[in-house]
Amino acid sequence: MKSNTEKFGKTPHQPSLWTRADALKVHADDPTTTQPLVSANFPVLSNEVFIWDTMPLRDMGGNITSVDGWSVIFTLTADRHPNDPQYIDENGNYDITRDWNDRHGRAKMYYWFSRTGKDWKLGGRVMAEGVSPTVREWAGTPILLNEQGEVDLYYTAVTPGATIVKVRGRVVTTEHGVSMVGFEKVKPLFEADGKMYQTEAQNPFWGFRDPWPFRDPNDGKLYMLFEGNVAGERGSHKVGKAEIGDVPPGYEDVGNSRFQTACVGIAVARDEDGDDWEMLPPLLTAVGVNDQTERPHFVFQDGKYYLFTISHTFTYADGVTGPDGVYGFVADSLFGPYVPLNGSGLVLGNPSSQPFQTYSHCVMPNGLVTSFIDSVPTDESGTQIRIGGTEAPTVEIKIKGQQTFVVAEYDYGYIPPMLDVTLK
Ligand code: FRU
Repeated sequence: MKSNTEKFGKTPHQPSLWTRADALKVHADDPTTTQPLVSANFPVLSNEVFIWDTMPLRDMGGNITSVDGWSVIFTLTADRHPNDPQYIDENGNYDITRDWNDRHGRAKMYYWFSRTGKDWKLGGRVMAEGVSPTVREWAGTPILLNEQGEVDLYYTAVTPGATIVKVRGRVVTTEHGVSMVGFEKVKPLFEADGKMYQTEAQNPFWGFRDPWPFRDPNDGKLYMLFEGNVAGERGSHKVGKAEIGDVPPGYEDVGNSRFQTACVGIAVARDEDGDDWEMLPPLLTAVGVNDQTERPHFVFQDGKYYLFTISHTFTYADGVTGPDGVYGFVADSLFGPYVPLNGSGLVLGNPSSQPFQTYSHCVMPNGLVTSFIDSVPTDESGTQIRIGGTEAPTVEIKIKGQQTFVVAEYDYGYIPPMLDVTLK
């Protein structure tokens, strides 16, 4: 296996490393980095559909944007099947857990609108059936481009393969609601290259998805973050001194951690419109630490780059662990070096008593963090659960230098706009 310097060259940057030593500092249940308990008594957005990853409409700077006073979110969405024989168990009951666990295979992009930044009304599917080139429509980012209401939806077209794509449409408002028009022509942008980013041929469990385009506040250029794994055949990666970091005696054994190879990828646009992209070496790698750094996104604050990404307990490598939740890193310039927030990287994790209560956190520039409810225990032992598939209570964090603090909690799915655009 090639070293980082060989694989990624000397320019333009070397990826920053989330090391095993950093991850050893992760502690579940620290109240300053733990999401308040979600009650099993939560309301659901819809009895017809499950929703999970939530993608608020925003501008290229990351600011959450309403249009003509309407807030808009996109969600990964799948029908609920309470009456489908396929999901009825041997006792004649709806097996909602299995239905929920199968959702990724039928994920579609839907949109919702609201006057209040909560109490979302279902708008419908963004693309008509047959428009998207693959079976699954996975996460991405809707961007409001201008006062004409043009929207570029960047997302991941999955199965077969995984391609970062975009589709252009328009948001139209009336007094009564919002509709999405257009979204008829999907443009493939790029796929994993096998040199910097792992391909399906190199690892059937590869990840390559979740585009998050942005304009760098400093150099003004158009870039895109995405989730990847470091290129190379599965099992060929080396967890060396750099990946281990400064560990105490007795913590040198890396077990089988070479199988965990997550990274946060970055690409730069060669054109103004974001139709032509060049992949660059990852900003951050987690080889030997974790296999998934999903839905990476930025908050630009105090002249710094706050890089957030979601991850799971089950994707941690041998000998390190942490809660499902959002992790963060900070740098003074776009290409790093990045250091883990709070020493460990953990910003907002699930409490250990409810390890799957929420996921897919998105930190917005106003410090509000939205996520969805996955499952919440309904009895003491945690064997009975209630499936969510709906918006979680919004949490507020304060970001201060290299630290973050949970400071407030708001209503379910509260995603207020940071600016309003009046359409022409
Ligand atoms: C996060 C995620 C994304 C992916 C989607 C698939 O919850 O795993 O990375 O795009 O869900 O459903």
